[in-house]
Amino acid sequence: MNFNPVETHTWVPLTIQEEGETLINIVKAEAEFVTDSDGNTWIDAIASWWTMIFGHRHPKLVSALEKQITELDHVMLAGHIHPAAESLSKALLELTNLDFHKVFYSDNGSNAIEIALKLSIQYYQNHPDHKPRSEFLVFSNSYHGDSIGAMNVSGKNYFNRIFSDLRFPTKEFPAPNCMFCPWGKSANTCSVECLTDLELAIKQKEYVGIVIEPLVFGANGMLFYDKKVLVKLRELATQTNTLLIFDEVFTGMGRLGEAFAYQKAGVKPDLLVMAKGLTGGMLPLGVTLVAKFIYEQFISKDPYRAFFHAHTMTGNPLACSVGYASVSLLKEIGLSQVKKLEVYLQKRVEPFQRKLGKRIENVRVMGGIFAFEFKETIAEDEYLNPVGKRIREKMKEFRVLLRPLGRTIYITPPYTISENSLDQIFLALEETLLGFAESD
Ligand SMILES: Cc1ncc(COP(=O)(O)O)c(C=O)c1O
Repeated sequence: MNFNPVETHTWVPLTIQEEGETLINIVKAEAEFVTDSDGNTWIDAIASWWTMIFGHRHPKLVSALEKQITELDHVMLAGHIHPAAESLSKALLELTNLDFHKVFYSDNGSNAIEIALKLSIQYYQNHPDHKPRSEFLVFSNSYHGDSIGAMNVSGKNYFNRIFSDLRFPTKEFPAPNCMFCPWGKSANTCSVECLTDLELAIKQKEYVGIVIEPLVFGANGMLFYDKKVLVKLRELATQTNTLLIFDEVFTGMGRLGEAFAYQKAGVKPDLLVMAKGLTGGMLPLGVTLVAKFIYEQFISKDPYRAFFHAHTMTGNPLACSVGYASVSLLKEIGLSQVKKLEVYLQKRVEPFQRKLGKRIENVRVMGGIFAFEFKETIAEDEYLNPVGKRIREKMKEFRVLLRPLGRTIYITPPYTISENSLDQIFLALEETLLGFAESD
């Protein structure tokens, strides 16, 4: 049985509140499938907002949760520590080859970003050789979450434009975009012209930090860019003592084929933010990984130098235990699975392009992401372009769950998805898009 968002008791997010919208009532899930209350099985082609990297209810995550709940459900982390938090922190720091020194817990990506921003500001306040700083360098087309601070460092767009009066100072630059380089450069000729203005700015004034999604701007269009950009940002940040903050809420935990995008790019940030796939999507958990030189500015007997930030459920043992099992799974099977997935997706590019011809453009693959743009005559761009919703609705007929970003269509399936399910997704996409263009 389906519902509409006006009649449910729950205010369903990112959904237009009108009776014509339908909500699928999901009652069960397993692997890449979810089942609705009428018994229909659907393929979760975007891994429930990129979280279910090992599919739903992976047995190893379920048993980690079952084991933890018989021992310790929750204890506040202030004044206490527990084995679940310590094991996960150690595993995460090892996953970074000790590029980071401390793990600060929270319960979602936006909060983990807030923590990175506040820690950065306080780092300069605490540091005896620095003056306080307050402004961040950010990019259009970036998305870092929906809380006020996370909105502030995101590009100005449909998600946050209504709240623009609440903004604290940031300086926004056009997002690097190697798919449509405004300078007409290719990988061979690029000298990172897209950072010229940022370079001027950062040399003229002191900023707290540069905040960026490494290699892929996800929620704002699945825009891919070259690692040269990150190399240059690292160089500029180091020269000017500005902190470099990578938001790996989407790209962390293997989505691009390496455990982290920063490892794929070979560029180390000073703070790194993760959430989403951290618990394989089973429980809410966010982390902010902090470099040693930053943490050192907080070691003090002086309470004014301490970082006063916590959420009630910070470091929840159930979430941490599942997180630990998820990091172990990533090493055991996740990274090899995502590489296999990437090979499958790469093989699909050419036949997909051939079949759909001029109806689509910019077909691209990175790790476990397959994305492209549907060529649409409707002028409205971005997320609100109605073509995305029309494609999502049509895909329902094939029992495939998608959430296009306007005319940008993408899949980010669980790394463990079967080839049969992938074939079904592509068949559904092809039939949907061919049918569309014919009826237009
Ligand atoms: C790159 C990035 N950062 C932060 C967030 C916010 O995470 P959350 O929705 O867990 O608050 C998202 C969510 O999509 C994201 O993609």
